[in-house]
Amino acid sequence: MQVAIDGPASAGKSTVAKIVANKLSFVYIDTGAMYRACTFIARKHGLDYGDEAGILKAIDEDGIVLEPGESGQKVLVAGEDVSLEIRTPEITANVSQVSALPGVRSKMVDLQRKLAGSTNVIMDGRDIGTTVLPEAEVKIFLVASARSRAERRLLDWQKKGIEAKQTVEEIEADIAKRDYLDSHREVSPLKKAADAIEIDSTNLTIDQVVAAILAEIAKKTNTSK
Ligand code: CDP
Ligand code: CDP
Repeated sequence: MQVAIDGPASAGKSTVAKIVANKLSFVYIDTGAMYRACTFIARKHGLDYGDEAGILKAIDEDGIVLEPGESGQKVLVAGEDVSLEIRTPEITANVSQVSALPGVRSKMVDLQRKLAGSTNVIMDGRDIGTTVLPEAEVKIFLVASARSRAERRLLDWQKKGIEAKQTVEEIEADIAKRDYLDSHREVSPLKKAADAIEIDSTNLTIDQVVAAILAEIAKKTNTSK
């Protein structure tokens, strides 16, 4: 069984995907972390974020490896755990430029399909239902208002003890900018697959979203028996 969860930034994709994966013992793959790792590699090598050839060469040199970790998934670059470093504001601000490079996308999509293999998998990103796993049995398009996504990000930082250097309005503007870039790029933009089920989590708790996804998976499991 393949479950694809797509949607804009901070809609809750990774939070709910991890919980569903744990409950069902599915493999969880966070594809956003892979584009963040590519952006981290570009920075580490002092490359321009638009330098496709340079970034592809640097990815081959360093290598990106995903490993199961305590809180979902660990990301290794050149053998080093960079799971925290790929979440800095610098990487977040530039990831949409790197992820729009066609060569980078095709490399990551190949890797994502290999990782999915033939196991039960739940994968979250922007183009999973449309491009990476078009045959996925369950496709969810998770959305929420930009304001509530910004408020959640802020709350998330507060809970983790990270000092917020931005107001909620500034976070909302950054999120909206990234959504625009991700939705308007040439290659596999953020888009709801024709057969995806849209869930608006603006007024839903995490548990309610998890329950809705589990119900969709159960429907498919029952009909395939
Ligand atoms: O967690 P957050 O919503 O901040 O983003 P993410 O899922 O970590 O993804 C970071 C960025 O990677 C996105 O803004 C996209 O530019 C890119 N991405 C993508 O292009 N395709 C995917 N399948 C996943 C992420
Ligand atoms: O992976 P993505 O960028 O889509 O979002 P996330 O990092 O999983 O979720 C962003 C924040 O929203 C997390 O702090 C979640 O706990 C929170 N969240 C929420 O408050 N209510 C929901 N229904 C879903 C997520």
